[in-house]
Amino acid sequence: AGAARHSGHHGHGGTDPVRTVAAATVEPFGVALPVPPVLRPVYVGGDADLYQLPVRAGTTEILPGVATPVLGFDGRFVGPTIRARRGRAVALQVTNQLGHPTNVHLHGGFVPPAHDGHPMDVIAPGATRSYAYPNLQQAATLWYHDHAHHMEAEHIYRGLHGFYLISDDAEQALGLPSGQYDVPILLRDALIGADGSLVFDPADADNRPTVLANGKPQPYLRVAARRYRFRLLNGSLHRIFRLRLDRGQLIQIGTDGGLLPAPVAVSEVKLTPGERAEVVIDFAGQPVGTRVVLEDTSGPVVGFDVVGTATDDSRLPDRLIPLPALPTATVTRDLALSFDPAKVAFTINGQTYDATRVDARVVNGTTEIWRVTNLDTRFNIDHDFHLHMIQFRLLDRDGVPPAPGEAGWKDTVHVPPGSTVRVQATFSGFTGRYVYHCHFPEHSSFGMMAQLEVVNRTA
Ligand code: C2O
Ligand code: CU
Repeated sequence: AGAARHSGHHGHGGTDPVRTVAAATVEPFGVALPVPPVLRPVYVGGDADLYQLPVRAGTTEILPGVATPVLGFDGRFVGPTIRARRGRAVALQVTNQLGHPTNVHLHGGFVPPAHDGHPMDVIAPGATRSYAYPNLQQAATLWYHDHAHHMEAEHIYRGLHGFYLISDDAEQALGLPSGQYDVPILLRDALIGADGSLVFDPADADNRPTVLANGKPQPYLRVAARRYRFRLLNGSLHRIFRLRLDRGQLIQIGTDGGLLPAPVAVSEVKLTPGERAEVVIDFAGQPVGTRVVLEDTSGPVVGFDVVGTATDDSRLPDRLIPLPALPTATVTRDLALSFDPAKVAFTINGQTYDATRVDARVVNGTTEIWRVTNLDTRFNIDHDFHLHMIQFRLLDRDGVPPAPGEAGWKDTVHVPPGSTVRVQATFSGFTGRYVYHCHFPEHSSFGMMAQLEVVNRTA
């Protein structure tokens, strides 16, 4: 158990003192948790907002006093947060100022294929591309990241990730904590070299000892003794977070694709790469001067320092957003995820990704059950499963129905070694080609990705 396990193909470079020295200098709770700035539209139209977002190299301070070169949306290690509203479109104009191709995928977004950031649909260096996001789905914590084929792992690792939050009337009517009391936190790990650089080594993916929250190691956040909403995202390539509080209670209110039907008290939130969970923490029971620590099996992640009191007119209703009843599925498919040691390849049903091949052709409007099995018991390799275009529901894992915290809308789900998950999706909406893949990006870029085509029913 614990964080990401060793995979059989991985080398062991972990004892090089030059590569690990920087991480050892981190002192817990020595730096404030930054909150990524909210991107401002350059133009507000009748029913759409226009944003501009250059992708460029930048520099950030991850470790105190050390400059780290990064790739970022707007040059930032954690991109600016885009706050969208259901029913109001977003036009995102992205200029590629890197020397090589990139693109943008709205992870969890219900988006037409031409705007989905398909791995083969990239922005050439120097070019500008406009993505149109319709924002037809319910309020949710989404994120955006690079998805350029074979580059996505390194690009995400170097900083091409940010939050995309959709709100709607039903969510706002609940009265959950908002404004400065609604804080997105991107969690991920990194290996920082002695020169401050981000060391990217896919063959040594478990050797990323520095855990970052919004780009800072073990930061503190000064909080008031009241209720907060936190949107937690695992933006790592390979680490699994198991998050707990050292005191107080984590209340989960949302999953990848929206709010749960009811808040649920949880002892732990597990996040594999790409997954999100929304939680409420009420610090009202904590005396001023208390530090509440959000911790992972790897150690402290964020320290919440209760520094004062504040009025709290937020609510945490007993009922949040209802889940619709599951329609009856008419198609079942089987997907086997496995590492092929002979080829050092990661496969789905024995095949690596081929952009010219369609692996699953689905009729628009059909409800399907996909059974996803992780065959990698020999090397004990974790995977997860991510589907583009549509949110799904987890039916069961090895026949066991999901705990309430996994029973909501999902687009990414953990598939531990030897286990089978069944997910159900209704493919209604857009036609065209999307991908589905393991969201350990080093696995997907080594082949563990396949293609979905949604087609209209022919007479
Ligand atoms: Cu978050 Cu296909 O990706
Ligand atoms: Cu995987």
